[in-house]
Amino acid sequence: MRILNYGSLNLDYVYQVPHILRGGETLAASQRDIFFGGKGLNQSVALARAGAEVCHAGCIGEDGTAMRDYLRENGVDTAYISVTEGSSGHTIIQVEGSAQNCILLWGGANRRQERTKIDRVLENFGEGDFLLLQNEINEIPYMMEQAHCRGMHIALNPSPIDEQLMHFPLELADYLLLNEIEGNAFTGETKPEIILEKLKERYPRMKVLLTLGSDGCMYWDGSRIFRQGIYPVKAVDTTAAGDTFTGYFLAGILEGRPTEEILRRSAKAAGIAVSRQGAAPSIPTADEL
Ligand code: RIB
Repeated sequence: MRILNYGSLNLDYVYQVPHILRGGETLAASQRDIFFGGKGLNQSVALARAGAEVCHAGCIGEDGTAMRDYLRENGVDTAYISVTEGSSGHTIIQVEGSAQNCILLWGGANRRQERTKIDRVLENFGEGDFLLLQNEINEIPYMMEQAHCRGMHIALNPSPIDEQLMHFPLELADYLLLNEIEGNAFTGETKPEIILEKLKERYPRMKVLLTLGSDGCMYWDGSRIFRQGIYPVKAVDTTAAGDTFTGYFLAGILEGRPTEEILRRSAKAAGIAVSRQGAAPSIPTADEL
């Protein structure tokens, strides 16, 4: 059983600011760093650092080959990453004193996935393998349909949320990993219990992990609901905390660990990520837990 993460790779330009910019305002940043990120890349790093065997597929521009090297150095199989014309995806991230962030995303090469290439990648996977997707690349509905035909398990992290997502074949997803804002967009509800209830009703065979920020998370595994709190830390930068949770969670599922243990480990890993700067560099290894 292998996991294929078909996902984004972004160069994150991270600016430390006294507060997040308001419309019409000009503000000097006190520091700028460039990190490797993208929900896809972060989740592959988290999976690999958690001990899973992970293949990453996606597109970068000529300016993004260091991201492919970084994944490789972290033990990710990068054979399915292709270099396309034009620039890679990038983000402008503002981080304010309270560790809160806001992210402006430019899709770049992430939005240049082509069906012929997708077919060639998926040919190498089949029954029982996992396909992990986030919402930062194009052609997700096609990938879901093709993976489903091949008997793959589909795990979808519908982030960032947008109007198009509502038209995805969500019923094909075996795992939905989302936060409360995304849960609200799908169901119109704000109470976590009701969000889960509505999702269960609509997609009866789906397992749902709902993360709730400082309130931890809830997980519906198809037969019961589990709850897990957070491990409180001094927050420095919340970027990639959700990606860390997702990677550790799925690695635990692949390893067949007990659910309580999976959730505990994922919460610990996300806590460590929040206590450090940057996206991918903040993700801990399993030994650090
Ligand atoms: O989830 C965090 C990630 O979101 C960042 O690394 C950034 O690239 C955006 O995709």
